[in-house]
Amino acid sequence: MAADENLTEDVLQAYADTPDPRLRELLAALIRHVHAFAAETGLTHEEWMAALEFLTAVGHKCDEQRQEFVLLSDVLGLSAQVDKVNAARGATEPTVLGPFYLPGAPHRAMGARIGRAEDGPATLFRGRVTDTEGQPIGGATLDVWQNSGNMLYDVQDPAQPRFNLRGVFTTGPDGGFAFRGVRPVSYPIPVDGPVGDLLRAAARHNWRAAHVHVILSAPGYQPVTTHIFDAANEYLRSDAVFGVRDSLIREFRPVAASDPADVQFVVDVDFALARVR
Ligand code: BEZ
Ligand code: FE
Repeated sequence: MAADENLTEDVLQAYADTPDPRLRELLAALIRHVHAFAAETGLTHEEWMAALEFLTAVGHKCDEQRQEFVLLSDVLGLSAQVDKVNAARGATEPTVLGPFYLPGAPHRAMGARIGRAEDGPATLFRGRVTDTEGQPIGGATLDVWQNSGNMLYDVQDPAQPRFNLRGVFTTGPDGGFAFRGVRPVSYPIPVDGPVGDLLRAAARHNWRAAHVHVILSAPGYQPVTTHIFDAANEYLRSDAVFGVRDSLIREFRPVAASDPADVQFVVDVDFALARVR
């Protein structure tokens, strides 16, 4: 079925004088796409009502702790698409922030441990932060966080100390950084709300590929929210929130004799930041 060109055109006209130019552009594209969607699918009244009831349920699931709309955006790949659209050329690729970021993690010394022995196999993460031409950026910060071997972040687990598996690290003059974390494990995203109903209806699983979160920032550069993924993880090709980028996958290499004795794995990972435009 073709879109009713006159109806769509009438609606576009009704919004054509929206004073804010960016809002005008966004509304016009939204109207064109939703009208084409209804026409292309032959959307019935019952289906549209079911969709509105679903969105209402998503809203009812939101509170101070839970943002079901963000989760919906995540499982539809829209968060990942917005990341892609806004990625700076030549910089480390961004990916989803997720709901478990906590501002105010402690600043830690180069190479420090962020977790406890019981959180998982000790892993040394090390590398350099550079600009998009490969020049080192000293004084850049890496705000890192990850889940424990029981699959939980500290904010989900009263048994973990506050800011367990979190820390802010600063690069040296050569752009170098190092921190000791653990090898991360896969974990399930919440499915006790309407987004869970959607995943079940679509016969999709709710597992995230194992990862470490990093927010990179430096004065004069565009910040990047990203992950380090484990190359051996089974969910790299089916991450529930479409967060995996090939460029973010790294090998967790078992230590050799020349590596520090207090870790089991080493991950070499460099990052690049683009200048503020
Ligand atoms: C996370 O990586 O922490 C996350 C991202 C999206 C949804 C749920 C969790
Ligand atoms: Fe996560």
